[in-house]
Amino acid sequence: MNIIHVSSYEELSRKAADIIASQILMKPNCVLGLATGSTPIGTYQNLVKKYQQGDLDFSTLTTFNLDEYLGLTGDHPQSYRYFMNDNLFNHVNVRPECTNVPDGCAADPKAYGLAYDQAIADMGGIDLQLLGIGNNGHIAFNEPADVFVAETHTVTLDKSTIEANKRFFNSIDEVPTQAITMGMGSIMKAKKVLLIANGAAKKEAIEKSFYGPITPEVPASILQLHPDLTVICNLD
Ligand code: F6R
Repeated sequence: MNIIHVSSYEELSRKAADIIASQILMKPNCVLGLATGSTPIGTYQNLVKKYQQGDLDFSTLTTFNLDEYLGLTGDHPQSYRYFMNDNLFNHVNVRPECTNVPDGCAADPKAYGLAYDQAIADMGGIDLQLLGIGNNGHIAFNEPADVFVAETHTVTLDKSTIEANKRFFNSIDEVPTQAITMGMGSIMKAKKVLLIANGAAKKEAIEKSFYGPITPEVPASILQLHPDLTVICNLD
């Protein structure tokens, strides 16, 4: 585990983008696991800049996103598909058909989740997984629970997650209460994991996740067992 402390969001975003860019340069047909939320926005901006400068080519890679709200279609401005198109995919030369975001409107989410995991496995697994972390230690939408769930599955969001995400909606009542999320299986099977955390509100989650016991009550703590984990934090 490599924990890097930086002193600004800009530095965090630059470093994270450099790690992702190295992955793409080393293996142009790599599989990237991607995250949404406010933290990776600066990382994606840096990646777009590298693409615009001609330093990065996205045309042969494949992406799988971690999660999506249940009930939101991809054209809903708060859906994670919309977020990814808006913050990254529309600005680089990734092939749209090679970008995967879980379908929040899948008729049979259980079967869909298994098929999503199989699609990742069929691509040879994830080479580099980018993660944010919730204030409660969640990764993707794996909320504190009694057990770690391996497969892509549906979850009921924690009150604290709904509270944290209401800033993106007109009111808290509009925040979906359920989501479909990659489980720990595909995340832990990723060859490399890069977790980014920004702001004082994430301090406790980082401490509990990486300096405390491994427990599903703190979902990110399982990452202590990952053989190639980098954490970049700006916690001031
Ligand atoms: C989003 C995701 C979530 C976020 C987490 C932190 O795809 O998987 O786990 O990474 O909620 O969100 P921000 O970055 O908004 O603090």
